[in-house]
Amino acid sequence: MPSDQQFCRYGMKDSVSIISGPSSQVLAGRVARAAGYPLAAIEFSRFPDGERYLRISDIPDHAIIIQSTPADSDYISLLQLLDASSASDQIDVVIPYSGYARQDKRFRDGEPVSARALARAITADRVFTINIHNENVLSYFDVPATDLNAAPVVGEYIASMELNDPMIIAPDKGAIDLVRSASEYLGVDFDYMEKTRLSGDDVLIKTKEIDVAGRDVVILDDIISTGGTIVKTAMLLRNNGANRVFAACIHPVLARNAVLRLFAAGIEDIIATDTLDRSVSRVSVAELIADVFRGNR
Ligand code: R5P
Repeated sequence: MPSDQQFCRYGMKDSVSIISGPSSQVLAGRVARAAGYPLAAIEFSRFPDGERYLRISDIPDHAIIIQSTPADSDYISLLQLLDASSASDQIDVVIPYSGYARQDKRFRDGEPVSARALARAITADRVFTINIHNENVLSYFDVPATDLNAAPVVGEYIASMELNDPMIIAPDKGAIDLVRSASEYLGVDFDYMEKTRLSGDDVLIKTKEIDVAGRDVVILDDIISTGGTIVKTAMLLRNNGANRVFAACIHPVLARNAVLRLFAAGIEDIIATDTLDRSVSRVSVAELIADVFRGNR
């Protein structure tokens, strides 16, 4: 049950509910259990032409909406949830996986800053993301936005694996903070590779001597999408004599045949969080989110 502190924060008469979008049902259920708040009853369906429909049975005073946006239609659902909750006194939005966050700047003239365009459409009191691809995106929201770090919970999971002289590798400099954060928890070595993206599903990883001979290595990235980054990194690590190679990420987008590509490249296993609901989502970020609403963060 919520603590006295929470009742004080939101007022004794305030009702608080977790409102799950269609893409985050498992995680929302776990957050509701962890935080001790009820899950709002919601109906999801589609009109005959494919347009999405939803209805929330009871609008709470304080709505905590949880919806990842891996697909365009998930973003539509998020906007619908926000509009449906507009009678709430307080609306907090958790976007565990934020689609379009990699389109965080104008790479070429004439392009939109897609992450900014989508962030601007979010009308809530507070926004929370988890290991968003680039924290600069937070400044695009018109409301206070906070990024939560799931690396320690991934580090905790890695610590529970029986690994031989483990090491954690970032496939590019962008993932170095993530890897540092997970490694600190484990007290193990970490390093990073240098990556150049060649196309949507192909990357060049610069050859680099890393002392991985005979060691078990975990490659940790924020997102695994096509798997191209992990596959190339794993090949280099193997050439450097690594023993077992595991792939870990916060957001298992796993587009197209990514899972097969990873296993075909000799990856032992895939470890991911439940910001996206996949079969490899074995590390839960529910406590991390629940802590925010228990007032512990
Ligand atoms: C990009 O900078 C991200 O951090 C990931 O490295 C990237 O999204 C992975 O994509 P893929 O799995 O398609 O190589």
